[in-house]
Amino acid sequence: MHVLIPAAGSGSRMKAGRNKLLIELEGESLIFWTIKSVLSASLVSWVGIIGQPNDKQELLKSVKNFSNKIKWINGGDTRQKSVFNGLNSLPSTAEKVLIHDGARCLIGPDLINKCATELEQNDAVILATKVTDTIKIVDNRGYIKETPNRQNLWAAQTPQGFLVKRLRKAHEMAIEKNWTVTDDASLFEMLNWQVKIIEGNSANIKITSPLDLKIAKLFLKDF
Ligand code: C5P
Repeated sequence: MHVLIPAAGSGSRMKAGRNKLLIELEGESLIFWTIKSVLSASLVSWVGIIGQPNDKQELLKSVKNFSNKIKWINGGDTRQKSVFNGLNSLPSTAEKVLIHDGARCLIGPDLINKCATELEQNDAVILATKVTDTIKIVDNRGYIKETPNRQNLWAAQTPQGFLVKRLRKAHEMAIEKNWTVTDDASLFEMLNWQVKIIEGNSANIKITSPLDLKIAKLFLKDF
């Protein structure tokens, strides 16, 4: 299985003044922990890391233990563009791909393998968890407009897995139609293509804020 790891964000919400994936926890960078986990999934055979050219040296240095197992890909100025660059850098033999955010360093190899296995039966799969909070849709002035039924609400995570041909087509359609999305499954939904949900776990957080770092530190102790 081929895996693309978008790692080209600026990390502005982390306020670290640099790519948040270079922040160290337990002596290694966040991107180190993500790649370590991805490479330890038995079904993974190829990993591409998508980063900003400015970060290339530092990112690759922090994952130098795995340097012979990963390929560097230049990212774009949005996650969507970064993933598209990644798709265009896959070997031509790649039929399926998992996209996994570099910022989700607490993913376990079992869930990566589960996504890869489910992709045998489906064109598109994503890891997600049932929402436990009651979610409000709020207007621009800060007043609640609506409360959707929690029964049907899931929080999307990564990995998200796809047939490469389909995902590339979806990204090309997005460019043509000027669609902007924050995950790849959204493109499938916009095209009315089915996406299967795989239940993940809530430890697979996306490291976004300084508080997330404290949580990640606790979980990493168990790795
Ligand atoms: O910004 P957000 O945390 O949602 O980004 C999710 C993932 O996408 C992160 O791992 C980040 O590094 C990556 N990303 C990217 N290219 C961008 C913006 C974000 O690869 N231009």
